[in-house]
Amino acid sequence: MSNNCDFQQDNAKYFKSYEDFDVHQLMLNDKSRIHSYKNAIFASKDKFKDKTVMDVGAGTGILSVFCAQAGAKTVYAIEASQLAKIAKEVVIENDFSDVIEVIESCIEDVELNSIDKVDIIVSEWMGFYLIHEGMLDSVIFARDHFLKENGLLFPSIAKLYAAPCELPSFFDFWDDICGVKMRCVGIEHRRVKSLKPEVSIVENQHLLSYGNLLMWLNLYDVTVEDLNLLSGDNTVAICKKDGKCQGICIWFVVEFPDGSELSTSPSCEPTHWKQSVIVLPNEIELCESDPLAFKLTLNRSKSNSRFYNMELTMLEADEVEHEIPCSCNMTKCVIMRTYIEEQESNAKNLSENV
Ligand SMILES: C[S@@+](CC[C@H](N)C(=O)[O-])C[C@H]1O[C@@H](n2cnc3c(N)ncnc32)[C@H](O)[C@@H]1O
Ligand SMILES: [Zn+2]
Repeated sequence: MSNNCDFQQDNAKYFKSYEDFDVHQLMLNDKSRIHSYKNAIFASKDKFKDKTVMDVGAGTGILSVFCAQAGAKTVYAIEASQLAKIAKEVVIENDFSDVIEVIESCIEDVELNSIDKVDIIVSEWMGFYLIHEGMLDSVIFARDHFLKENGLLFPSIAKLYAAPCELPSFFDFWDDICGVKMRCVGIEHRRVKSLKPEVSIVENQHLLSYGNLLMWLNLYDVTVEDLNLLSGDNTVAICKKDGKCQGICIWFVVEFPDGSELSTSPSCEPTHWKQSVIVLPNEIELCESDPLAFKLTLNRSKSNSRFYNMELTMLEADEVEHEIPCSCNMTKCVIMRTYIEEQESNAKNLSENV
């Protein structure tokens, strides 16, 4: 097989970044991440028992060890960076040398006939706003080349959500600094920050609506081409309280075959992914039940396929379709809601009188 993995010069830099132990400590210390994977694997022990598993991007080997502990017969721990050498030591330290085989290689370079096809692929591939880093491409490659028919993926579904939010540190902060007004600095700060998504913790209390589902990926059939352009539908967020929309908060959730989830929502325990935020240059005053319409597009960068250009377009709420029924305060939605309620009440009365 050709050296697919060297296709990109940036790969060397990418894998080098994973040779930093601080990065692994950060990930291993992310309780939500680790527990979600461990719980999902252990909840499916019956599926792992005596099975062949592949861990795509094994890093220190933690997920491979979970799979071995869950009863897997063989685990191929594929790791392209120098961390593979450390993973080998972790395997020995945990007495799983007879189960886990660490393969120091890009998954794209593993010879097709050099290993058995696998029953399960486990991978932690998610980046900021889900797809940054482009590692899902490698999991898709592994799925298409090494997963048996009807094999399982951990995780198997990925979802991206967004909601308008308040960002006090980008707006209110500049109003008064020890009695000095610095709104002009705030304007410049936001101009610079709005050029790319900001990775930051958003307090749940600062969300102005519940999350709208932007994108839903079934990992069993998503393709690399699908990932080149991810365009959410027109989104209508409905404010759950009065507030100032100062940005759009983005987070993801992945789901495992047992139905359990790893969520990076502001309403869940913070993770090392935090949330991704698009800072707006100017705030928009909103009241409870107001609709806020926007569209988010993620376009893979031409110069580096691990990066995406994120584009947010704010739309006129009365020019886009709303759900039916919609709980916003626009006249057309109030009329539709009242009509549906009347129909339901008539139907109920009819059935009671029969
Ligand atoms: C997010 S880390 C996860 C590490 C480990 N699985 C964990 O959960 O702690 C992703 C790892 O995948 C490796 N990786 C990314 N793409 C890969 C590829 N195509 N082939 C092999 N390893 C890859 C990186 O070097 C990195 O160590
Ligand atoms: Zn509406």
